[in-house]
Amino acid sequence: MQNKQLVLSYQIFELSELSQSDCELLTRAREVAKNAYAPYSHFKVGAAVLLENSEIVVGCNQENAAYPSGLCAERIALFSAYAQFPMIPVDTIAITAIGNKSVIEEPISPCGSCRQVITEFESISKRPIRILMQGEKGAIMCIDGASTMLPFMFAEDVLKRYTKE
Ligand code: THU
Repeated sequence: MQNKQLVLSYQIFELSELSQSDCELLTRAREVAKNAYAPYSHFKVGAAVLLENSEIVVGCNQENAAYPSGLCAERIALFSAYAQFPMIPVDTIAITAIGNKSVIEEPISPCGSCRQVITEFESISKRPIRILMQGEKGAIMCIDGASTMLPFMFAEDVLKRYTKE
């Protein structure tokens, strides 16, 4: 038997330490979070995607009375970015959220399905995507690459290894 360990590294920023571009991206995420359609959870999430061509595409969560039919802000932003700018690599995704009970003071991180989708975008463009997370205020967390947040993920290379076209 062998014991193995994974080491995860991430950064914590204060607002004053952020680059202008990161600040703008978080602001765009914050603005679009207000448009979320979240009558069931009352948890409004906003995501803003910065592409390598400097375009910013935003998305917010959209819920449905048939709960699983809704979709997270991150996937809406990413799928929309690909629809508008196919094959343009994603540089950074900023994520934030608004609750209806108290001010969110901790970073909001993407759910497992969104992490899976972000890693697919990383593999399309063969580069990591920075994930920038903040609640309504407080610490800003930055992780360089969604695969860091999704160890042992299922990925296309496994399909390729064990199946043929
Ligand atoms: N949600 C997101 O939009 N992104 C996440 O990463 C976590 C959860 C949404 C889905 C649902 O509309 C609400 O937040 C509560 O789960």
